[in-house]
Amino acid sequence: MSDPKTVKLVDESTQRSSTLPLVAGTLGPACIDIGTLYKDTGHFTYDMGYGSTASTKSAITYIDGDQGVLLYRGYPIEQLAEKSSFLEVAYLLLNGELPKAAEFASFEHDVSHHTMMHESLKNFFQGFHHDAHPMAMLAAAVASLSAFYHDDLDVENAADRKLAAIRLIAKMPTIAAACYRYSIGWPFRYPRNNLEYVDRFLHMMFEVPSEPLQMSPVAAKALDLLFILHADHEQNASTSTVRLVGSTGANPYASIAAGITALWGPAHGGANEAVLAMLQEIGTADKVETAVKRAKDKNDNFRLMGFGHRVYKNFDPRAKIIREMTHKVLGELGVNDPLLEVALKLEEAALKDEYFVERKLYPNVDFYSGIIYKALGIPREMFTVMFAIARTAGWIAHWIEQHETPGSRIGRPRQIYVGHDVRDYVAAGKR
Ligand code: SDX
Repeated sequence: MSDPKTVKLVDESTQRSSTLPLVAGTLGPACIDIGTLYKDTGHFTYDMGYGSTASTKSAITYIDGDQGVLLYRGYPIEQLAEKSSFLEVAYLLLNGELPKAAEFASFEHDVSHHTMMHESLKNFFQGFHHDAHPMAMLAAAVASLSAFYHDDLDVENAADRKLAAIRLIAKMPTIAAACYRYSIGWPFRYPRNNLEYVDRFLHMMFEVPSEPLQMSPVAAKALDLLFILHADHEQNASTSTVRLVGSTGANPYASIAAGITALWGPAHGGANEAVLAMLQEIGTADKVETAVKRAKDKNDNFRLMGFGHRVYKNFDPRAKIIREMTHKVLGELGVNDPLLEVALKLEEAALKDEYFVERKLYPNVDFYSGIIYKALGIPREMFTVMFAIARTAGWIAHWIEQHETPGSRIGRPRQIYVGHDVRDYVAAGKR
């Protein structure tokens, strides 16, 4: 009887074998530690897209894709969405525990006193054409932060790591609002420390010199909730990017900038912008059936953006919460958006269609979020920037966890080589 804590792999062609340890976590499937596989058998493993591969151990977020479960440091997303705030969730992701009152007050003070960006950084925006995509500006501005903070970039120093986390969480809204203001030709607004995190951001986004901004508590609450839901999500593509870049010893600003560019893709965080473009392309509910047909047609690269997920083979719990809040927020803001009817009709049609049911394709976090952003007056090009503001909390928590984990190594996957076998150089005249 083999040890229940190991699995044995035998290459029947060579009879070489490897007895590999099973590594179990607190929750979720145990993993086979294949560290000695190549030495024992001469084989690598191959897993396109890492669908069955754990890249690290982590204590930050847990997802059960079959049950539609999402926990931040053990707390169910539904409870955090109902009872917490984004800044408290950022503290939780970074520190592992919900803050006591004094701890949160100190964290909030630190964040609010790092919200300004260096005056020279504003000049960077002048180099962009007015219609530059905000994600391009955001990635460039965040990468450039290391040029301003080169005195405390020792990734091995815990205090430097904590300061970088505070700076990034604090400055993302300021830089994001600057991207928006530059794109519409409005002057930048300085962060107001007497406002709470999301109110401060909305003020920097929408306040104009000519009149005071009528702050909307409904808008602030809705955006805070969206930030909570987008704060972290285990080893998704952008978080894995941050970890891979961080594993080289790159500074936190460069690592987070890499995460921003990874998030931009329409298969990932760029989907929220793509969903709205899709809904606008469909236009009216009577055209939904055609869209569903196109999404199933292998010869048509049209996909239902906001549908499907690598991990969730059930409803994305975040999508459920956002779906419910969409009706509430639009009602409270008095917004009647015909695209909501298109989205609801699309979801209804897809969830009844065998193609989607068979492939377990459900609405994900990006399917409804854009309708709320639109109702808040946030333009489509800024939707993924919203995602990046929130996900910065998760990205930097993972970056810090990686540096605090003893024995962390540079990430360097192998490959299956399918190119030419060795061959000799051919002189130009003989090719
Ligand atoms: C996010 O990883 C995370 O946790 C990400 C995220 C986070 O918080 O960090 O949750 C945020 O990125 C959400 C996902 C946002 N992306 C989209 O909404 C884009 C549309 N969805 C997909 O392109 C797709 O579903 C992915 C990228 C999300 C998942 O891709 P997978 O796991 O590689 O799945 P797949 O492409 O292999 O699809 C499996 C099958 C295929 O059909 P068959 O080849 O089996 O016939 O499902 C089909 C796909 O063609 N399919 C879709 C579809 N998504 C998958 N068909 C139509 N419309 C879709 N949206």
